[in-house]
Amino acid sequence: MTPGTLEEFPGTRAAKCPFDPPPELRALQQDGPLAKVRLWDGSTPWFVTTHAEQKALLGNPNVSADVTRPGYPIHSANAGGGSLSFILMDDPEHARLRRMVQGAFTVRRVEGLRPAVQRIVDDLIDDLLAGPKPVDLVEAFALPVPSLVICELLGVPYTDHDYFQENSKTIIRRSASPEERALAFGRLFEYLDGLVGEKLTNPGDDLLSKVAERVAAGELTRPEAAQMGVLLLIAGHETTANMIALGTLALLRNPGQLALLRESDDPKLVAGSVEELLRYLNITHSGRRRVATEDIEIAGQVIRAGEGIILPNDIGNRDPQVFPGPDELDVRRDARRHVAFGFGVHQCLGQPLARVELQVVYGTLYKRIPTLALAAEMEEIPFKHDGQVYGVYELPVTW
Ligand code: HEM
Repeated sequence: MTPGTLEEFPGTRAAKCPFDPPPELRALQQDGPLAKVRLWDGSTPWFVTTHAEQKALLGNPNVSADVTRPGYPIHSANAGGGSLSFILMDDPEHARLRRMVQGAFTVRRVEGLRPAVQRIVDDLIDDLLAGPKPVDLVEAFALPVPSLVICELLGVPYTDHDYFQENSKTIIRRSASPEERALAFGRLFEYLDGLVGEKLTNPGDDLLSKVAERVAAGELTRPEAAQMGVLLLIAGHETTANMIALGTLALLRNPGQLALLRESDDPKLVAGSVEELLRYLNITHSGRRRVATEDIEIAGQVIRAGEGIILPNDIGNRDPQVFPGPDELDVRRDARRHVAFGFGVHQCLGQPLARVELQVVYGTLYKRIPTLALAAEMEEIPFKHDGQVYGVYELPVTW
């Protein structure tokens, strides 16, 4: 079988439903598990459309996440401009660095943060209710929740949030030039490096202080520590903020589903809604990227060593073999097998934290503001088609 080739990947999401992957990607999925796509540089990496094959490849030790390897499918001509610590490294180096921070993200440790997350969410809703309306939910709520949480966890002063939010926005904006991205990276790196320095002399009860301890013990270099801080800071707030705002928009557009969530006190339904919204929205829409290090036989094809692989988890999460009626948002569905957090050794380190934050938000916001409504036409909402993480730039709401 010769796989079909889709010209000009990535496309943008369908205008008809801004929550759906582009229809041409779904069409490729119907043709079979593997296809080829043509990228901006003329290269034609493999494109893996089905849930089972995506998981098999992400779990295969013969695929590399190292962006510097020849054949890696680079996002765009603008890519580059900084290194995001272990997310783009292979084992054993990746595992060495990941192990140093993973203790802070176990389910048990993160459950201990739930009361603090609840307090942050309640205080922000108090402020919303006391303030003017309409209001931009992104600025007033969706961004502050995860920013406050990750600042508390890392030991970063929240008063600096404008500074790190501006710079991390540039890093994940696809249209940013390599120079712009390198500058933003440099600024965040210096900022985190300064903080690691402070924690070395004046440690606190926070994750950056633990990272600084490793530097003092000679297990980690100071640049490695600062790079890790940049990764955690960016990954810890951008993604969750997009899930809060886009999730709220999806629920407002599906009032029956919103009513189920608002009227239930069952923590299982709230937790299930989080999984379903992660599956349905799949905000990391540009796909996982890898390159084969050995020949890999899969689904009747051979991926040769050195060939690029794109694993678009948004269509993996709409695979009808795994999720019947995949284009329906159904908060009562068992969506736990989704790949919105990736799969394999790079599977999201922060997922227990993201889950707690989203469970608290979805379980609180719509109950406390039951009349929450959009304060703009759907056509006026600016979507992040140009970002590596999908979402909305603004979400005007009222009540
Ligand atoms: C809803 C929110 C989130 C989503 C959808 C998400 C999604 C993802 C995905 C898909 C990956 C895999 C990347 C790959 O395979 O190439 C990943 C990795 C990662 N995420 Fe998240 N993430 C979220 C929240 C967070 C939070 C709150 C943190 C906390 C700091 C975090 C930290 C990380 C880190 C450190 C990695 C790299 C793991 C590794 O390479 O071993 N993420 N995330």
